[in-house]
Amino acid sequence: AEEEAQLRVAIATELKAQDAVLVAHYYCDPVLQSLAEETGGCVSDSLEMARFGNQHSAKTVLVAGVKFMGETAKILNPEKRVLMPTLEATCSLDLGCPIDEFSAFCDEHPDRTVVVYANTSAAVKARADWVVTSSCALEIVESLMDNGEKIIWAPDKHLGNYIQRETGADMLLWDGACIVHEEFKAKQLEDMKALYPDAAVLVHPESPEAVVALADAVGSTSQLIKAAQTLPNQTFIVATDRGIFYKMQQLCPDKTFVEAPTAGNGAACRSCAHCPWMAMNTLERTLQCLREGSNEIFVDPALVPRAMRPLRRMLDFTQ
Ligand code: 13P
Ligand code: SF4
Repeated sequence: AEEEAQLRVAIATELKAQDAVLVAHYYCDPVLQSLAEETGGCVSDSLEMARFGNQHSAKTVLVAGVKFMGETAKILNPEKRVLMPTLEATCSLDLGCPIDEFSAFCDEHPDRTVVVYANTSAAVKARADWVVTSSCALEIVESLMDNGEKIIWAPDKHLGNYIQRETGADMLLWDGACIVHEEFKAKQLEDMKALYPDAAVLVHPESPEAVVALADAVGSTSQLIKAAQTLPNQTFIVATDRGIFYKMQQLCPDKTFVEAPTAGNGAACRSCAHCPWMAMNTLERTLQCLREGSNEIFVDPALVPRAMRPLRRMLDFTQ
């Protein structure tokens, strides 16, 4: 605990000295989330992380999360220095959507508007017409549909399926998935609901359809946090990364949050309810990258303007 306190002070001092701001995702270690809050940074979903980094005046943005979040910050702010505690933190959605295959797929369907999730590489974003996150995907697809547009959706098939069911849009789906959300199991969730009959079930739409079907609220991290605050229930079963409990508990101190069941509960499971890549963000690495200026994010300058366009569209749409 003493070591942790020292690290926190050291990071806060470096942030100030370097005109840097810490931006953390809700899935990060609570210790980083609280540090971001205390030092005037932000803790949020992937959409608001992008907006915050873009609007803040700091010369350096330190992004605690996964690689696509750092790249998004850099694309939107090419003049700023973007650092990450680790460069190894990727995402199974990003990994599952290599640019060459994706570009060929798009070329086969030139009549379709290309909508990609923020959880993608800069190159995939550069090939897209729109970037979306889970908090704005529904509205954006709805508006494209109203415009008569047919859609290519990548990479998350569960989120794509969910949006298709909700909107009825004509969508061709890429076959990607999140290794964390894919582990939530409907059968076990039903059993758990029986144990907590008064609990509301909160589900991130990267989860399989059968799990989404059991939800009282479906939404992005920020939307699930809002649901925890506004639904009258005292207990919540939560099907998303457990990092989110920090913010839920902070905003609803009297409520109880329990993890939705995964196949691996009780067994060794690398990705059960906690993203192994988010977990790579530690206090030690945060301090190290600040002190050394290491782990700076660079995006191919040829991609930046092309990737910025669909990202800006998303920010403008959701203003
Ligand atoms: P949101 O915070 O946009 O809901 O993102 C979910 C996610 O999995 C990010 O890795
Ligand atoms: Fe990617 Fe899933 Fe981890 Fe989010 S939780 S970064 S979608 S692997």
